[in-house]
Amino acid sequence: MSAGMSLAKAGRRLTGTAAVLFGLVLVTGCDPADPYPTDLSYPLRTDLLVLNYDEANIPAPEPLGSVETMIDRIREKDKTKVIDPTDLERLDQLERKLEDLFGTPAEPTVKTRNTKLIKTLSLDDKTLAAGSVLYRRHCVHCHGLTGDGRGPTAPWVHPHPRDYRRGLFKFTSVKGGGKPRREDLMRTLYEGIEGTSMPNFRVLPEEQRSEMISYIIHLSIRGEVEYEVMKGIHDKVRGNVDSQATAGLKNISDDWAAAQEDDARIMPHKYPYTGDPADPPKESIERGFRLFNGDAACIGCHTDYGRNSPFRYDKWGTLVRPANLTAVVYRGGRRPVDIYYRIHSGVNPSNMAGTSETIANDDQKMWDLVNFVKALPYPAMLPDKVRDEVYGPGRK
Ligand code: HEC
Ligand code: HEC
Repeated sequence: MSAGMSLAKAGRRLTGTAAVLFGLVLVTGCDPADPYPTDLSYPLRTDLLVLNYDEANIPAPEPLGSVETMIDRIREKDKTKVIDPTDLERLDQLERKLEDLFGTPAEPTVKTRNTKLIKTLSLDDKTLAAGSVLYRRHCVHCHGLTGDGRGPTAPWVHPHPRDYRRGLFKFTSVKGGGKPRREDLMRTLYEGIEGTSMPNFRVLPEEQRSEMISYIIHLSIRGEVEYEVMKGIHDKVRGNVDSQATAGLKNISDDWAAAQEDDARIMPHKYPYTGDPADPPKESIERGFRLFNGDAACIGCHTDYGRNSPFRYDKWGTLVRPANLTAVVYRGGRRPVDIYYRIHSGVNPSNMAGTSETIANDDQKMWDLVNFVKALPYPAMLPDKVRDEVYGPGRK
């Protein structure tokens, strides 16, 4: 396929959600603060499903204005690494089943037998309907009608807004970094995501933030079921589309439920040093520095402490750069415990794995790493030897 053709196709895919949104405003003349029209359905996914990518072959980042060219380039190199939904059969069945399980933008629902989950995550129809109206007003222009991360603003910001349809989240306090806890998502909405276009919404009443979180969990579960069933159709998995979707919903609900259990939380070790944690012992910072460059192998991705990190793929098939840890910008929050969570269980969708069990089980090692990462941007906080190595000799 020529680059021109694939770009045209990318353009068509990209504008899918945008066209629906513009259409809504033009045809119905309605304000984004109104509920969605009742005859609007969630469109079935048409953009490529990324299964895998060639880690050894990272292309240059795309220019702003496109989410899709990166993913199209994966396909151009190797067609087996993606699935094109437009090649699949039985999609009409899937569309009907998804509407049955998840409703429409105006009347969203999650039809699972797991009533405990509905309660714990507030996924009842009333909350979802309220969340949907608020989402349309505050989030849809970035995160898209189906939560595909492809709203009209999306191509112009980097990182691109989150595509919720993989069920993957970055900033969680869950061991192993699976599904997030509800409070993790609430915190993201309260704080925003520093260093990205994701704003904070703390001026809104907590109740409204909470309703929107319910709604995006709904979008995420819907999108993940869609992804899994499309993959099933492609892989010619046995069983009809309906039963695959029902089974998918059950498994995904179970994952969300498990992450809400108390024992799923990362429980940080008690801070092992006396004195103010804001002014940690120099020996701890130095041990953290050695771990960073040694056993914990952080430097392998955070090249030159992140000042020269090469781009890598994330699980969506777009690019991410291991954070510049000298820059004092932390997407997932800057509290010591936020850094602790990241080190403990990683940023899985960005392919940063959690640290080894040996380190995770060791209170000193964990806090030494946190102390080093927190001190790293401030040359004056570093022990002389460490400062010379990070910033070159003579820097104060
Ligand atoms: C201006 C664009 C923009 C708007 C508006 C926006 N977001 Fe985001 N959002 C982003 C970007 C960009 C990211 C991804 C940041 C990243 O990958 O590090 C993101 C990520 C997220 C995440 C993922 C957090 C995680 O742990 O992975 C959630 C949840 C989220 N947004 C919720 C919302 C909600 C709810 C709204 C509306 C109230 C909203 N966003 C409005 C741009 C936006
Ligand atoms: C396999 C590559 C890889 C390794 C190894 C790695 N990281 Fe990362 N790290 C990343 C990537 C990629 C990001 C960016 C995540 C994002 O923003 O989506 C990141 C982000 C971070 C962040 C910033 C989180 C935020 O809130 O913005 C911290 C802190 C961090 N890493 C610390 C570490 C430490 C400490 C180690 C060693 C224990 C380590 N990393 C090992 C790839 C890696």
